[in-house]
Amino acid sequence: MSKLSFNHLLEANQIKESDIKKLITLAEKFRKQGYKKTFLDADCSGLILATLFFEPSTRTRFSFESAMLRLGGKVIALEQGESSSVKKGESLSDTGRVMSNYADIIAIRHDKANSAAEFAKYATVPVINAGDGANQHPTQSLVDIYTIFCEKKKLNNLKIGILGDLKYSRTVHSLLELMSHYSGNQFTLISHPSLALDAKKKKAFEKNGCKIVENSNLESAIKDLDILYVTRIQQERFTDAKEFEKVKNVFRISKKTLTKAKKDLIIMHPLPRINEIDEEVDHLPCAKYFAQANYGIYIRMALLTLMTKN
Ligand code: NCD
Repeated sequence: MSKLSFNHLLEANQIKESDIKKLITLAEKFRKQGYKKTFLDADCSGLILATLFFEPSTRTRFSFESAMLRLGGKVIALEQGESSSVKKGESLSDTGRVMSNYADIIAIRHDKANSAAEFAKYATVPVINAGDGANQHPTQSLVDIYTIFCEKKKLNNLKIGILGDLKYSRTVHSLLELMSHYSGNQFTLISHPSLALDAKKKKAFEKNGCKIVENSNLESAIKDLDILYVTRIQQERFTDAKEFEKVKNVFRISKKTLTKAKKDLIIMHPLPRINEIDEEVDHLPCAKYFAQANYGIYIRMALLTLMTKN
């Protein structure tokens, strides 16, 4: 099995189409095998994953940890950064230097943009950015692209609506980066004007070859979508609480919202969901956000396996 084109995974733009192919192929193998057999195969036995999470997480952290355990490896973890020396004022670079002695691969989440890159400069083992502020979340975009592959059987010629917080949502930035390279994809951006995608980012994604339109009218935007990717309004990134209050309830997906949608529309969400999707939608066949969390385990197993191969 060949390795991936990167040593550290810090930004989605490092991930080449050939990497995605390798990761999906291996994730499919794991998914078809089921957990138990995978554990016996022990692709990462003898290896240690360190998870350094300075921001809250459920899916990313636990799916990484579960993936490593299922691969026969071991996990050491930091709880919300509270118990580490970073709390005492130690720099991320010093933490990076020492943590490399204790683990074979490190996943880090931090509230500052580029923190994972800073950490990786001093680490001597592979580093995975598990979310750096409002900047990037490249492994969530791998989860997303794998979900699209499993549910739509293709990665191109798709009409994808992206709804919610396009300004601060790191998962949106990473997903657009990955999916904009595949031919024929068209994105419809649906947000409150104050949470629109940064114009510079939008231009850069268009340069990758995709078409991007903006339409803040959800009812008309939803009509011809293949995928609706919903995001949470990222409350923790707002500096003014009043601004958050203005935008927190602008969009809510209910059964009624979906009456004009295509029959084979799928709804994705990186989760956590707050109130942007009504629970009545969870039981519809289009609701794929919990399946998406499940696909995450296989693609992260594939990522850990390939990133630790010499
Ligand atoms: C996302 C994140 O942390 O950016 N969650 C996740 O990793 N599944 C999305 C979010 O918090 O809204």
